[in-house]
Amino acid sequence: MYPLRRNRRLRANQAVRNLVRETIISPNDFLVPLFIVEGKGVKEEIASMPNYFRYSLDLLENEIKQLWSLGLKSVLLFVKVPDHLKDNAGKEALNPDGLMQRAIKTVKNVCPDMLVMTDVALDPYSKYGHDGIIENGKIVNDITCNFLAEMSVSHAKAGADFVTPSDMMDGRVLAMREALESEGFTDTGIMSYSAKYASAFYGPFRDALDSAPVDMQDIPKDKKTYQMDYGNRTEAVRETLMDIDEGADIVMVKPGLCYLDIVRDIKNAVDVPVAVYQVSGEYSMLKAAAQKGWLDHDAVMMEQTTAIKRAGADVIASYFAKDVVKLLG
Ligand code: PBG
Repeated sequence: MYPLRRNRRLRANQAVRNLVRETIISPNDFLVPLFIVEGKGVKEEIASMPNYFRYSLDLLENEIKQLWSLGLKSVLLFVKVPDHLKDNAGKEALNPDGLMQRAIKTVKNVCPDMLVMTDVALDPYSKYGHDGIIENGKIVNDITCNFLAEMSVSHAKAGADFVTPSDMMDGRVLAMREALESEGFTDTGIMSYSAKYASAFYGPFRDALDSAPVDMQDIPKDKKTYQMDYGNRTEAVRETLMDIDEGADIVMVKPGLCYLDIVRDIKNAVDVPVAVYQVSGEYSMLKAAAQKGWLDHDAVMMEQTTAIKRAGADVIASYFAKDVVKLLG
């Protein structure tokens, strides 16, 4: 008798395919990144991210309500800081009445149950567009960690549920955890960008926040002395295990699609939830190809999202979150 096993039986129709599918996408998988600007009535499209917007706080309220009604219950906040408030040390980031601090309160006001995560990094506040404080042309690690710790406490005071360091300094998770504990914020979580690569896929995000490294003498042109080299794999596991030792509750791999081998390595190596950030360039690539009629937007989006989860993502930070959830119906 031949063949004993016919694998196509489990693919014969949609019902059986649904029955045996291993990876199911739900609204609970997503963390929605949001870009926030000063002003009133502002909803401006980001040029390199079609159909993705920066919101002023008043319009952020509607957006939050809409996300909640779609079943999207976690957001990740980023702010676009006006140029005149940028410096080398990120002083504005600690302003209790700064844009981020007001944004946290705005979200919690309109939707108290929305999980609020905040970006903890210097670059939106840095006049040099770097994630660290610069001295003599170098990004200084430990002073930056102290700053990030203070920034975390400021976000926790404003009501953030999780603080998320996206900088890749050594030891910043420990500095943040100690600061949060000593200020009494024992319930504030840390989602650490543990394996964050120096990637060209961040381009559109830097447009969105006007946060690209500046082209100036004595200022590093790129982030390669702190973000990881994309040639490396074992280093990602080491970075991630160290972040967990330092107190990270959730760890993250970034970017997504080109790094799914890393996602699986980390998923197999750790016992905390793993997040994956499908970054701006990944979003823009698909939007552009779809606009040209070269790819089926929705089909490719679902395939990519499912691949990220299949690789091991427990949490997916994605600009496609709304599009995906609308499609799920
Ligand atoms: C910087 C930061 C970046 C992103 C999130 N936080 C860009 C960078 O490292 O230069 C990128 C996210 C995206 O591209 O969607 N702290």
